[in-house]
Amino acid sequence: MHTQSQPWTIHCRREKTSAAGYFGVGFVLRLVWIAIKRVLEYRADTLYGRQHGCQLSPALKKRWPLGIDRIKELWESNAEGHLLAFLCSIAKDYEPGNNLCQFLLVGPRAYHILHPRNVETLLLTNFQDYGFGCRPAVFAPLLGKGIFTQEGAAWKHSRELLRKQFVRAQYQDLRYFHEHFANLINRMPADGVVDLQPLFFNLTLDVAVELLFGRSVYSLRAGVDQADENREFAESFNIAQEGLAKRFRLAPFHFLYNPAEFRNACRRVHLFVERYIREQKLMETRSETAKDGSDVDSATWFIRQIASESATETELRDQLLNVLLAGRDTTACCLSWTFRLLVRHTWARDRLRQEIRSVMGDLTNPTRQHIRAMPFLACVTTILPVGGGPDGTSPILVRKGELVVFSQYVNSRRKNIFGPDADDFRPERWETGELDDIGWAHFPFIGGPRQCLGEDFALMEISYTIVRLFQTFTAIELPESEVVEAVGTERQKLTLVLSSADGCRVKVRR
Ligand code: HEM
Ligand SMILES: *[C@@H]1O[C@H](CO)[C@@H](O)[C@H](O)[C@H]1NC(C)=O
Repeated sequence: MHTQSQPWTIHCRREKTSAAGYFGVGFVLRLVWIAIKRVLEYRADTLYGRQHGCQLSPALKKRWPLGIDRIKELWESNAEGHLLAFLCSIAKDYEPGNNLCQFLLVGPRAYHILHPRNVETLLLTNFQDYGFGCRPAVFAPLLGKGIFTQEGAAWKHSRELLRKQFVRAQYQDLRYFHEHFANLINRMPADGVVDLQPLFFNLTLDVAVELLFGRSVYSLRAGVDQADENREFAESFNIAQEGLAKRFRLAPFHFLYNPAEFRNACRRVHLFVERYIREQKLMETRSETAKDGSDVDSATWFIRQIASESATETELRDQLLNVLLAGRDTTACCLSWTFRLLVRHTWARDRLRQEIRSVMGDLTNPTRQHIRAMPFLACVTTILPVGGGPDGTSPILVRKGELVVFSQYVNSRRKNIFGPDADDFRPERWETGELDDIGWAHFPFIGGPRQCLGEDFALMEISYTIVRLFQTFTAIELPESEVVEAVGTERQKLTLVLSSADGCRVKVRR
C-alpha cells in the first residue's frame, strides 16, 4: 500500500548548540569565537567537498524572489489535497539525477534526495551524522521523551527496550484483534454504504491501546457502553495529535501553534495514563517484573516490561505515548488506502477474495500461519513503488545544519525504477521478481537503525482485518456515488500521515 507513517521526513545534519547565558565582554568574545569557528569549519568542509569531487545538485527553479512562487504553489496544492502529486511533478523535472536543492525564504539550504543510494547513506551508512532537527521540540508537548523524539544514547536505550517487546509480540497469537474487529463490524451496516476510514482510525486506536496498556479504550463503542474516561482519552488524543501535525508543518516556528485546546488535550492524555499507572501500581511493582518475558500472558505485560526499565512515571508514560503515536494512524491509513484501491480494482479484489477463501475454507479467525499462506495479500498491502535514478551523479556536500528531506511517497513513484506504470495499482509487480533489486528505492518502514519496530504487528493487524472483512461481507463494492480518479490524483490529507480527504466509502453486503 502506498501509505507511510511520515510521507516525508526531514533530517538535519547535527549541529551542536551550547547553553545560552553569556553577558558583556564574554558574550562578544563568544560571538567572535563562533564566527571564526564557522569560517574555519566552512573552509574545511569546502576542502573536504573538493577532495571528494562534490558538486551541488540542481537548484529548484523559481520565478519570484525567495521562492515565494513555489511556496504559494505548495500552499495551494496542499489546500486542494494534491500536495504530494505536486511534489511528484516537481521530482519528475529532475530525473534522472533525482536530487535537487533549494533555498526557500530564509534558512539553510535543503536537499531533497530521491536517489536510493542517498537514502541509504542517510538512513544507514552515515546514520550517526544526521539528526531530527526540531522534531523533538515539535512533539514534546504530547510525547515528551521517548523513542520517537530521542537521539543518541537515550534513543538507543529506548530502542533496545522496545525492540525486545516487539520481538515477543511476534510470538503471540492475534488475540488483540478479535474483539475490536467484532466492534468494527457492529458499526457497519449489514447492507449499505459506509465510510471505513474513520472506523479504521478507531479500530487501530483500540488495538494499539490494548497492546500497550493491556486495556483498550473502546472508541468503537463510543455512545454504546464506552466509559467516560476512555471517551475523554480517545477524543483528547485525537486533538493532541492533530496539534502535533500542525506544529510539524510549521517546523522551526512550531511554538507559534500552542493553543489552550491543544495544551488541555495533552494534559488530559497525560493524566489518563498517569492515573492508569498508579491504579495498576506499575511503578511500585516494577522490580518484581520478570525480565525474561515469562509474564507475556498477562494483559499488561507490555507496559510492565517498559515500567521495569523506567526510572519515573513520566518516562513510562512518554514512552508508551510515543509508541501509540507511531502505531495508530499509520495502520489506519494503510487499511483505508488498501480498501479504496481494492474497490476500484475489482480484479485484484476478486483475486484476493479467492485467495482468502482457499486458505481459510470454513475457518473464521486467521492465524499468523494462515496469513503467511496468502502471498497475494502481502502484495496488496505492500506499499506502492518508489524510485531513484541511474548512477553517475557526483556526491553532494551537506554542511552542518543543512536539511536533507526525502519522501517515501515521491520515491515510490519513480518511473525510471518502477516502470512507466509506477503510478498504477498493480500489486502483481511484487510477485514477478521485477523489483527484486530495488534496494533503497522502496522503504515504507524506512530502514537502518531506526526502522519501524511495529512492522510485523501492523502487517498482522492489517492482514487480519482485510481477511475478516472479506469473510464477513459477501460483497464489498464501490458505491455508485463514488468517483474513480487515476491513482495519486484523488484528494489527500497530509498530516503526520497521509489519509484520504474523501474517506474510504464502500458498499457492503453480508
Ligand atoms: C502500516 C503501518 C506502519 C508504517 C507504514 C510505519 C512506518 C514507520 C516509519 C517510516 C518509521 C520511521 C519514522 C522516523 O523515524 O521518521 C517508524 C518508526 C516506528 N514505528 Fe512504525 N509504522 C507502522 C506501524 C507501526 C505500529 C503498528 C507500531 C507499534 C505498535 C509502530 C512502531 C514504531 C516505532 C516504535 C517506531 C520508532 C522506531 C525508532 O525510532 O527507533 N509502527 N514506523
Ligand atoms: C470513533 O472514536 C471517536 C473518539 O472517541 C468517537 O467520537 C466516535 O464516535 C467513534 N466513532 C465510531 C463510529 O465508533
